[in-house]
Amino acid sequence: MPHSQNYDVLIIGSGGAGLSLALKLADHSLRIAVLSKFDLTMGSTYYAQGGISAVFGADDSIESHIEDTLDAGAGLCDPDIVRLTVTHGKSSIDWLRQQGVVFTEEQTPSGEVKLHLNQEGGHSHRRIVHTADATGKAVSLSLIERAQEHANIDLFEHHNVVELITSSKDAEKRILGAYVLDSKKQAVKTLAARVVVLATGGASKAYLYSTNPHSSTGDGIALAWRAGCRVSNMEFMQFHPTCLYHPHAHSFLISEAVRGEGGKLILPDGSPFMQNFDAREELAPRDIVARAIDHEMKKRGIDCVYLDISHKPEQFIREHFPTIYQQCLEFDIDITKQPIPVVPAAHYTCGGVLTDSYARTDIANLYAIGEVACTGLHGANRMASNSLLECLVFAERASEDILQKLPGILPPPVIPDWDESKVSDSDEEVVVSHNWDELRRFMWDYVGIVRTDKRLSRALSRVDLLKKEIAEYYSNFRVTSDLLELRNLVIVAELIIRCAQLRKESRGLHYTLDYPEIDNSRPAQNSVLTPSPTERR
Ligand code: FAD
Ligand code: SIN
Repeated sequence: MPHSQNYDVLIIGSGGAGLSLALKLADHSLRIAVLSKFDLTMGSTYYAQGGISAVFGADDSIESHIEDTLDAGAGLCDPDIVRLTVTHGKSSIDWLRQQGVVFTEEQTPSGEVKLHLNQEGGHSHRRIVHTADATGKAVSLSLIERAQEHANIDLFEHHNVVELITSSKDAEKRILGAYVLDSKKQAVKTLAARVVVLATGGASKAYLYSTNPHSSTGDGIALAWRAGCRVSNMEFMQFHPTCLYHPHAHSFLISEAVRGEGGKLILPDGSPFMQNFDAREELAPRDIVARAIDHEMKKRGIDCVYLDISHKPEQFIREHFPTIYQQCLEFDIDITKQPIPVVPAAHYTCGGVLTDSYARTDIANLYAIGEVACTGLHGANRMASNSLLECLVFAERASEDILQKLPGILPPPVIPDWDESKVSDSDEEVVVSHNWDELRRFMWDYVGIVRTDKRLSRALSRVDLLKKEIAEYYSNFRVTSDLLELRNLVIVAELIIRCAQLRKESRGLHYTLDYPEIDNSRPAQNSVLTPSPTERR
């Protein structure tokens, strides 16, 4: 007799996107489940520093925010999606404040209290709403608290999706739920749902060095791909220019807001270099700054460059960047007195599961929101602080569509239990950890900031070998969280390489020595991949 739990809406992911959607739906008498692979805070949202872009400045305008976003996206943004997102900036911030998020304010000389706005790369105005340098923590904790209070939301921590379940008989393939590994109990359960939403975040853990937490293994992209969804623009992996460089620091970001407040990038001898790469210097879009740093490091054979904000008053630094100040101090770096060693690291997945303006994917009743999705907002390069905004806006769009459609969606039929009768416990976990390391290293070396045709094809042949080994392992052994992540990461790595191979030009975040110029001889195209029948489950 199958044992499954039934929900109206199953949301996979407890970051900014997933929890916002859960809260927007929860007052409509629906049963909602929200899953997190680890604990509820473990996602990029919690670690976001700089803030959320929205037009609040007196001299700013929606048109200017649109123009900056399109400019950063290097010809590949969808202008309608950009307008839709940017025009919802203010209402998204208002909604977060209603959920209890407290943003940093300032008092004007006339005594008026208003939101303090940060400046970041690519933005022509100050427009980043923030909570000091720990915006994501403020957002995450408030949303978690609201969700925990809500009777209609069931929160499942340490639940890792193994596979999406879809109908095979209907004329139109539709989503029915997911098989989920309860990693504390090491048991796979079935969660059936009328609607499923992927809110699983990005895939930056495909790279050796990343600013992201452990959860960013691109699971949602791989799950959707295996279920039959198209995936787009995976070559545009964003490398953040300034990740702390220290042997004991684990993926700690130095916010772009530090450059926004006057932080200068310098070489080990103290000389600045960004003036040689872009007139906007430190505030050029990220792709340009990360490539400039990579260029200087390779040319000079140095391990890192430095970011110096020490010329600013100590009190200013400690007030604006309390988290960064404290974290660096723990590594004996006093940022009020000395420059910070920094290197670029994989930070954001601009591509993902292809969605429309209501976050719908190619499979009926399956949605994707947040970093897992490719909505058309970011094009070839995401502008700083547009990501949390996208999470909020597309949670709202998905909620509108789900509420309108739900009355017509039948509950799923009885779903068979996960079959473990033919597998045993692994006797060689080392295969998984070895393959994890290998994958992340060749992605860093061959598919990183600067690519070539040769490096891409080398990486692809390694992916082919790993895929075979992992497929064999998956069919013979009981699933574990590490194995599931590796199985997903190898698919994501393949999709990044295949998209990169399709692009015979350098554009936005994709830079290749074989085609170092942008190709303006024909209209700019997104890279779209469709899974073949053998790539679907
Ligand atoms: P996440 O917040 O990453 O959440 C993903 C969720 O999915 C997690 O709960 C995870 O456990 C769950 N999950 C994943 N796979 C599975 C699975 N198989 N089964 C079950 N659950 C699963 N953007 C900005 O706009 N402004 C900023 O200032 C900013 N700063 C950043 C700083 C850092 C250090 C980082 C890493 C990113 C930053 N970004 C920023 C980017 C932004 O934080 C993310 O793009 C955004 O938070 C993504 O939100 P999300 O809800 O889509 O995913
Ligand atoms: C940062 O604070 O530099 C991160 C901002 C972002 O990724 O949008």
